[in-house]
Amino acid sequence: MKELTDKQKAKIDELLEKMTLEEKIGQMNQISPSIVGGFDVSFEELIEMMTDGRISKEEFEHMMEGATQDFHDDVNRAGGLGSVLVSDPKVINKLQKIAVEETRLGIPLIIGFDVIHGFRTVFPIALAEAGTFEPELFEKTGRIAAKESRASGIAWHFAPMIDISRDARWGRISEGPGEDPYLASVFAKARVRGLQNDDENPENYVAACLKHYVAYGACESGRDYNTTGMAKSMLHNIYLSPFKAAVSEGAATVMAAFNDLNGVPCTVNSYTLRNILKESYGFDGFVVSDANAIRECIVHGIAEDEKDAAIKAVSAGMDMDMGTWIYHNELKEAVESGKLDISYIDEAVHRILSIKMRLGLFEKPYVTDEQMHRYDQLPEEHLSQALEVAEKSIVLLKNDDVLPLKKTAKISLTGALADMPEEVLGSWSLSGRASDCVTIYQGLKNKGADVSYYPCCGPEDSINEAEVKAAISEGDIIVAVVGELVSMSGEASSRADITLPGRQRELLKMLVDSGKPVVAVLMNGRPLALSWEDKHIPAILECWHLGIQMGNAVANVLFGDVNPSGKLTCTFPAMTGQCPMYYNSPRTGRPGSKSKFTSRYLDAPLEPLYPFGYGLSYTSFEYLDMDIKEKDDCLNVSVVLKNTGKRDGSEVVQLYMHDVSASIVRPVKELKGFSKEYLKAGEERKVTITLPKNQMGFYDDNAVYHLEDGKFIIYIGTNSKECLEQEIIINF
Ligand code: NOJ
Repeated sequence: MKELTDKQKAKIDELLEKMTLEEKIGQMNQISPSIVGGFDVSFEELIEMMTDGRISKEEFEHMMEGATQDFHDDVNRAGGLGSVLVSDPKVINKLQKIAVEETRLGIPLIIGFDVIHGFRTVFPIALAEAGTFEPELFEKTGRIAAKESRASGIAWHFAPMIDISRDARWGRISEGPGEDPYLASVFAKARVRGLQNDDENPENYVAACLKHYVAYGACESGRDYNTTGMAKSMLHNIYLSPFKAAVSEGAATVMAAFNDLNGVPCTVNSYTLRNILKESYGFDGFVVSDANAIRECIVHGIAEDEKDAAIKAVSAGMDMDMGTWIYHNELKEAVESGKLDISYIDEAVHRILSIKMRLGLFEKPYVTDEQMHRYDQLPEEHLSQALEVAEKSIVLLKNDDVLPLKKTAKISLTGALADMPEEVLGSWSLSGRASDCVTIYQGLKNKGADVSYYPCCGPEDSINEAEVKAAISEGDIIVAVVGELVSMSGEASSRADITLPGRQRELLKMLVDSGKPVVAVLMNGRPLALSWEDKHIPAILECWHLGIQMGNAVANVLFGDVNPSGKLTCTFPAMTGQCPMYYNSPRTGRPGSKSKFTSRYLDAPLEPLYPFGYGLSYTSFEYLDMDIKEKDDCLNVSVVLKNTGKRDGSEVVQLYMHDVSASIVRPVKELKGFSKEYLKAGEERKVTITLPKNQMGFYDDNAVYHLEDGKFIIYIGTNSKECLEQEIIINF
């Protein structure tokens, strides 16, 4: 996004001068259209009734047929809206027309929407995409999403979601880049560049929104919306890292998280919003609450009523209210009665107007008919990008010489997930179209595979034994697509048991017992506990929810036309009870071992099933001759990487460090760099990764950053567990 020109700055000051208090508060009000109908209960309760089964989905849909949407045109006309959460371009133009042509000051709306991993072209969920370890891809897919949505009039994405999550039970782990703060920071910066910095055509910009600020992924026991508590050192070293990085990249907006952090909800947390974000990081965009979050401060028990919640939120630095109308209803009186200083309101409005101005909304508030229909058919370039990123996101977890499949293999494809188009999309893909989705069954057919399909069982189904029998007797090899429905991860979808849902393990067991080779293809939005599968199934391919090109990508990898290169962005525990489990855990005084009085469970292994950074290939790589060259300001760590197998392939070389002795307990390992290398069969190459010395420190409990002299261990290798290592003494 372009910086403000002097002329634009003057225009903002001029507007602020002219605005009434009501108009200022209007800019701070974001709404969703209200659903109106002849219901006996509120719309919210209707949704709840459907969710808890009091009415069926069909009954709900029937009731909705008579419903209409209220866009609050009158409030808009009076200058009472700053933003609307909506996606239909025709509606957007209509709302903009009122804002621009019928309000006193003609300030355009900023239209925001949840575009998390693609708009029309739906890419893999972020948890998968981050596993490509390719920042250029994160940027490219962000840019495509920005282009497509801006053509529909959406100028603001509620993305990237960059919550570090170390707990696979949390459903929203699917939406972000995983458990590691370094990888998440690289991802966050690249996404912000992709969304905001299309220099060729500024009309393709959107404003990014970093969410959920902050520590939402640390919700206790992985249960969504639950409390979070942690030391400031942990907050700064882990959870704030990607936010800090993305702010330094120029992110335009931030969304506060639902959770309380050490007792103060993030919505009204002046330490995180004002002291850290706005003052320490110098963030100059605006902050929006999460949906309904200002009202939830009453439920949290830290605001007496709506007025109190509004005052607390604005004073803490919350610039825009998502969806409660509380700012609209309460702020005027709060200012007029002297309970809230007008300077808070002026600051918020200044921030909001600046972003609207930088997005070019004042010059070009509408979209044309041509723009609206530009992506009715997806361009070839977008489809091939979706295919490339999907292929690169696939992680080979296990392979006992079963994969790749022979082109002539007679395949029995099983699992209901193999042919459910919407299930390839993943959580939060509101604008994806089923007609664009390629299922795995379709992908195999597109490849000309000799495939017969037997659904047998889905995540919520019983087992169709006749189909299982047929699958076993007909095929030479069985490909079983198992995992989670899209609705089983994402918001409000925490699970207390992260094994394969329903009867899918039983299905696998029946298939394995047949003696035919079985390949498990996983579709899921979180790490699963797969000990049984790992023990009994010869080949396992982690395919996540890969977006519209999923089927083609999976088929290419199954047949070996693409060599898998994705790596895990989150630890896969062996069993649910190990959660939260993550590679960069703080050192304990009694590291887990076979001895009794150590940090371990009696009934679980010490180690995860698959560690962070793990992922196999159809070829093999060897790491040799690690070397560290110390310079004044950095370490150059090199290794010779050799492709020792028979196929060309890519490997993500990972650099970790450990601070052996420090003034606070440090993690056993921390990722500090990576390099993705493509090597032909037999090829070898020296790979060097630079570790800047100023990145070797940590924040203490007063949020002060330290670089402490002493011994470090540097690791370089194929995943967070299997590395070469060397010690080094550093004097900063
Ligand atoms: C709630 C979610 O937490 C957030 O991620 C999303 O952007 C908003 N609702 C708006 O849909």
